[in-house]
Amino acid sequence: MAFTIAIDGPAAAGKGTIGRALAAHFGFSHLDTGLLYRATGRRMLTGLDPVEAAQSLRAEDLAADDLRTPDVSQAASRVAAIPEVRQALLDFQRAFARRAGGAVLDGRDIGTVICPDAEVKLFVTASDVERARRRHKELSDGGHAVTVDEVMEDLRQRDARDSARAAAPLKPAEDAQLLDTSTMTIQDAVAEAIAIVDAAQG
Ligand code: CDP
Repeated sequence: MAFTIAIDGPAAAGKGTIGRALAAHFGFSHLDTGLLYRATGRRMLTGLDPVEAAQSLRAEDLAADDLRTPDVSQAASRVAAIPEVRQALLDFQRAFARRAGGAVLDGRDIGTVICPDAEVKLFVTASDVERARRRHKELSDGGHAVTVDEVMEDLRQRDARDSARAAAPLKPAEDAQLLDTSTMTIQDAVAEAIAIVDAAQG
C-alpha cells in the first residue's frame, strides 16, 4: 500500500532528522530530495551544465561526502531555481513517493508540487539561530571547518532564494501541519511527528 509523508521547510530545520526517524518508525522508505539538488549543484561546480547534470545524475553522485558544505548548498539552491532541472528530477521523486510500503520525502516542494495528494504533510521550521547552530554542529562533527556566521549566511541566502523563485517556491501547502522545532528536543519533535502520522492513519 502506498502512503506518502511529505516534509517541507526552510534550510536545516530538522526535516531530514524527522524524515529518517519517521521512516524507521513506520518501516517506510526515505528520500532526502535536497541531495538531488546538492549533487546537481556539485556537478555544476565541476563545469557541467546544470540541466545536463540533473538529467544524468547517478547514484554515486549522491554519496559524495562534501554535499552539505556551504559552497555546495549555494550551488544547490541556484540550480534548484532552474525549471528544467526541477523537471528532470520530478519523475524519480513521484515514483519514489508512491512505492509500495510507504515513503517519506523531505524538501521544499513535496507537499505543494511533487506530492500534492500526500496522506500527511508537515512543514517543519525552527528559528534562524537554532538552525544555524544545528547545521554548524553537524558540519563541525563531520570535520568541515566553517564558522556559525558562514552557516547563518548560507541559510539566509538560500531561504530568500528558495522562497522568491518562480519555480516551486518554498512555502507550506495549504493543508500542511506546522511543526516549529525551535525549543524541542529531537525526541520531542519526532514524537510529535509520529502522533500526527498516527492520527492520519486512523
Ligand atoms: O538540508 P537543508 O535543509 O539545508 O537543504 P536541502 O534540503 O539539502 O536542500 C538544498 C537546496 O536544494 C535547498 O536550499 C533548495 O534550493 C533545494 N531544494 C529544492 O529546491 N527542492 C527540494 N525538494 C529540495 C531541495
